[in-house]
Amino acid sequence: MAVAKGIAEQLERASWIRRMFEEGARLKKERGEANIFDFTLGNPEVEPPALTLATLRRVATEGRPHGHGYMPNPGFPEVRAAIADKLRREVGLPFSPEHVCMTSGAAAACNVILKSILDPGDEIILLAPFFAEYPFYVGNHGGRVVVVETDADCLPEVERIAAAITPRTRGIILNTPNNPSGRVYPAALLRDLESMLARLPNPPLCISDEPYKSLVYDGRKVAEVAALISQTAICFSWSKSQALAGERIGFLALSPRLPDWPQMAAACTFANRTLGFVNAPALWQLVMAEAADACVDVAAYQHKRDVLCAGLSTAGYQVNRPEGGYYVFLKTPIPDDVAFVGLLGQAGRAGGSRRRLRPGRLHPAVDDRAA
Ligand SMILES: Cc1ncc(COP(=O)(O)O)c(C=O)c1O
Repeated sequence: MAVAKGIAEQLERASWIRRMFEEGARLKKERGEANIFDFTLGNPEVEPPALTLATLRRVATEGRPHGHGYMPNPGFPEVRAAIADKLRREVGLPFSPEHVCMTSGAAAACNVILKSILDPGDEIILLAPFFAEYPFYVGNHGGRVVVVETDADCLPEVERIAAAITPRTRGIILNTPNNPSGRVYPAALLRDLESMLARLPNPPLCISDEPYKSLVYDGRKVAEVAALISQTAICFSWSKSQALAGERIGFLALSPRLPDWPQMAAACTFANRTLGFVNAPALWQLVMAEAADACVDVAAYQHKRDVLCAGLSTAGYQVNRPEGGYYVFLKTPIPDDVAFVGLLGQAGRAGGSRRRLRPGRLHPAVDDRAA
């Protein structure tokens, strides 16, 4: 039985990730585990907070009756109440448990909200550069991606977004702190976006994907998208802030300012069930009712950012210093980034050139190409 044409095409488009894995495995064999650093996935680099692990141990052993069974599809009522409480404090809007649906991470939250708003051919605006999985999430629900470029600093431009909106535009995915650019969108920009959206007869939903919200550096605070943009759905997860990416726990929260939020909440509950998630993992929901605010040591990530950015700049790269998240978005010294990575691979090979890239100078092998 052949796979469907749609997924065959997607597999081809997504083959980069598989190729990176395969190349990483090959390089480890060739050069030894200790010489290859795996940056291919957004996997946390640190262990979960002590409070999270202690709460997990207690919750797992306390023998809560029916603690491992089904619960209402959006999650345990007391867990949703705890999350609504957190959101009331942080966003300053009257969230109730009914606005919250516990999900299997931010990926599930994004898919649940997209399924709830998209009819075939409807459009979702993505602001480039964006998380590479978004187009697949949109495609899962028959949507069409409309890419809007950002400025040279990777910040969205409201006029460009306005120009891309059509009667079919159902949503805009905002991701701040941004993967991959590391940009944290300023509050003033979000206010301008709200002014533009508020003038539209049918404003698209702002899908605020916030898995990196707690990972911000140099004393920054992330502007609350839902506080500034009225029609917002928040997609959150503890994958990054608590280093729990493999556990699959997060939530979707609808803004109380969404005019039809009860109907949207019903749609999301249904989508969470019928997409096959059914409900978010029970034990982890219970943990988050108590440990939702715990966070990994952000200073450790900030230190790694500093070391990495300094090293890359010294090596001659043009680096966008991340304000949040844990990715570094950089310009390769030659425009063809794929060719450049190939050259780097050769340069590190035993017996290959070991000369280092110096500031203001391209690697010798690269110079040939750049000429
Ligand atoms: C921007 C962004 N959104 C969503 C996700 C998915 O997060 P989760 O693992 O919580 O589903 C990721 C994961 O890397 C991400 O970078």
